[in-house]
Amino acid sequence: MARSDFQTLPGTRDLLEPASGRVRTVVSTFAELAEGAGFGQIVTPMFEDVGVFVRLGEASDVVAKELYTFTDKGGRDIALRPEFTASVCRAFVQNRPVTPWKTWYAGPSFRYDKPQKGRYRQFDQVGAEVIGSNDPDVDTELIALAWRFYQRLGLTDLTLLVNTLGDAAERPTYLAALRTYLEANAGELSEQARVTMAVNPLRVLDSKRPQDRAVVEAAPLLGDFLSDDAAAAWERVLGGLDAIGIPYVVEPKLVRGLDYYTRTTFEFTTDALDAAQNAVGGGGRYDGLVAALGGPEEPGVGFALGVDRTVLACEAVGAFGDDEPPVDVWVVATTGGTDGLELVESLRSAGIRADRAYDGRSMKAQMKRADRSGAAIALIVGESEAAAGTVSVRPLRGEAEQAPVDRNEVVNRVAELLAGD
Ligand code: HAM
Repeated sequence: MARSDFQTLPGTRDLLEPASGRVRTVVSTFAELAEGAGFGQIVTPMFEDVGVFVRLGEASDVVAKELYTFTDKGGRDIALRPEFTASVCRAFVQNRPVTPWKTWYAGPSFRYDKPQKGRYRQFDQVGAEVIGSNDPDVDTELIALAWRFYQRLGLTDLTLLVNTLGDAAERPTYLAALRTYLEANAGELSEQARVTMAVNPLRVLDSKRPQDRAVVEAAPLLGDFLSDDAAAAWERVLGGLDAIGIPYVVEPKLVRGLDYYTRTTFEFTTDALDAAQNAVGGGGRYDGLVAALGGPEEPGVGFALGVDRTVLACEAVGAFGDDEPPVDVWVVATTGGTDGLELVESLRSAGIRADRAYDGRSMKAQMKRADRSGAAIALIVGESEAAAGTVSVRPLRGEAEQAPVDRNEVVNRVAELLAGD
């Protein structure tokens, strides 16, 4: 089959080294920090009954336009997950873990989005959710976990935007005020904003069109409609961020793209990416979602961070540094026997990272490979070494000379050399 017959579909990519290794670094950094903050991992299926995700809000783009749906052979209506939060809530209702339940996850999500750099149809997220606590300190600790993760990776010039969307109870009063205001100014809004206004006026606040921005500028703010309880919780979140020294910007028009949010919402943006894809992560409270999925009235709060965008942002600021050579030792064997095979396997069994060339290449070609591999040491077995029962150990960096070592001693000698002895 010709090379061009099959290519990855739009918005999907193959990740080869070093990109795949960078994704691994990002995920393992997150896993370590989340586990260290008392979160246990959850793995949920990549596809679920479409109803699980429709709860995210039929007016949101994620549900209305971007869901990958299909009917399986059993006639079930299924969707690929566009995010994890709804699945985590479904899993909570199904498994009833002890509350507060703190869980983290990592893996791909799928959205039929318009592909561009930093925006894909299959993308990876890492995230954390806490179900069963109203304590605003949980919101602050989640923000701190995400913040620490970015700091650990070396993404230090991030902006943390925060907002509160209040409770479901005060939402109708606010929405009525917002709708009245938008209707009074409808003549100045874009066609799209007028359509959005009818379905979910909150989303108009999010419009990036300059024409809409002018109207939105003077719109009533949810912050002015908060109940005493929601206002006190909000003060506590901001006070908590101050207390632990995390800088933030209050953005009263931050509404986020999913409809389940209540109270605290937040987003991390970076100048290292184009404005349309500059959100590297976000989250917030979703106090009604567990109940909407048929569970008890348990509150929830969490975030998801875009792994692909985090990798791009880290690359843009040089946060990954030099990629490490994949192996420490390169085995060069020209005897035609099993010397090369035996040597790499004994090194690998001893936990030493080792590789070799194949297909009976010449000594010269194999040495070239060894040099290019970035390995610190070459082990050489030619006819003379094979006859003497030795291996020539050649340091590939620094001044040290090549030296013969007894075949039975070579793994220990290599381990000493790599340890710097
Ligand atoms: P979200 O804002 O839709 O929130 O996605 C979180 C992050 O995933 C975004 O900030 C972005 O970095 C990344 N992301 C989203 N869509 C794409 C895409 N098409 N290509 C590349 N990266 C993308 C959520 O998913 C919520 N579940 C967050 C949450 C958890 N809220 C509460 N708990």
